[in-house]
Amino acid sequence: MDTARQQPSDEAQYCADTFNGAIASAAVSAAWEIGLLDELERAGRVGIAGFSAASGADPGVVRALLVALSTRRIVTLDAARTEATTDAGFASAYRTKGFFYWLTRGCGELLTTLPGKVLEADRQGDFVRRDSRAISVACRNIARTFFDPPFRELLRDVDCTTVADLGCGSSDRLIMMAGLMPGVRGIGIDVAAGAITVSKEAVAEAGVEDRISLVQDDVLNLSPRDEYAGVDLVTCFLMGHDFWPRENAVRVLRRLRENFPDVKNLVIGDTCRSTDVHGPMHPMFTLGFETVHSVMDQYIPTLDEWASVLDESGWRIADRRMIDLPAFSFIYRLTPA
Ligand SMILES: C[S@@+](CC[C@H](N)C(=O)[O-])C[C@H]1O[C@@H](n2cnc3c(N)ncnc32)[C@H](O)[C@@H]1O
Repeated sequence: MDTARQQPSDEAQYCADTFNGAIASAAVSAAWEIGLLDELERAGRVGIAGFSAASGADPGVVRALLVALSTRRIVTLDAARTEATTDAGFASAYRTKGFFYWLTRGCGELLTTLPGKVLEADRQGDFVRRDSRAISVACRNIARTFFDPPFRELLRDVDCTTVADLGCGSSDRLIMMAGLMPGVRGIGIDVAAGAITVSKEAVAEAGVEDRISLVQDDVLNLSPRDEYAGVDLVTCFLMGHDFWPRENAVRVLRRLRENFPDVKNLVIGDTCRSTDVHGPMHPMFTLGFETVHSVMDQYIPTLDEWASVLDESGWRIADRRMIDLPAFSFIYRLTPA
């Protein structure tokens, strides 16, 4: 019997899609990291032998990645499986590649060890490890694509001389602002050594070491520093949820006014907990974001919960942008109340 030609039932196909999607997600990350995705974006097609020779990749593995991508119609392979061309799902996968990278490269270990993170007895001490370097790279791409365009709009109404970016990750936003506003100085603050390493490389590559300094510190318990006087803009992207639960968020938001006594604007951009989303209707990223933070025991507030802490924390909303992707995301420009 030729099993390959049997038409699977809907149920069996859903199940196969689930399995194949996991492989295809990892393949999107790998294809991006080795330059395969960028080559497909540039040329619309890629020859396996030529790409492998030029990049030093194993042609068998490159073919396997492309086959995995073809299961989700990101590419199509020719009959001889020597060349791939972009398919209907490519543009969307390319635009959202940062989410895949965040999930599989940044949170891969958390997911592969998930069975060992469920029982209370296993959830002790330092039981979660993520790749902070990969998360910085992923967030740089996510922020550039989805958060920076509305952020640049908000910046039009902001005068500043020194900006501190909390949870700066790759420092990409500081570098972008240094380019947009020639006189501005920046301070990037991040707790993770991997993020500081990526930042140092990026700041050096951009040639702005004289204008951007980096501090490895915990934003939730910032140590005072002389250089924080004079900071008139504080930004915080994709880490505001780390301020929570509520009483913590109120404390951290209040303390920012003491840590940065000259602050005039605080811009927070983040993704909130979804509301009213069920089953297969979960949009891109939401399920991964909420699953990972639930395993890490990190509370994610809803949009309403965010709005409810601001008054109490000494800030008021001066301007805002709502973001469709990632779903349930916002950027608030806050001023001292
Ligand atoms: C999701 S990434 C976002 C990076 C960057 N803001 C961006 O938009 O690309 C969150 C960053 O916040 C940092 N972070 C998390 N908790 C922190 C804390 N308590 N203090 C300082 N940095 C923190 C992480 O190390 C990580 O680099």
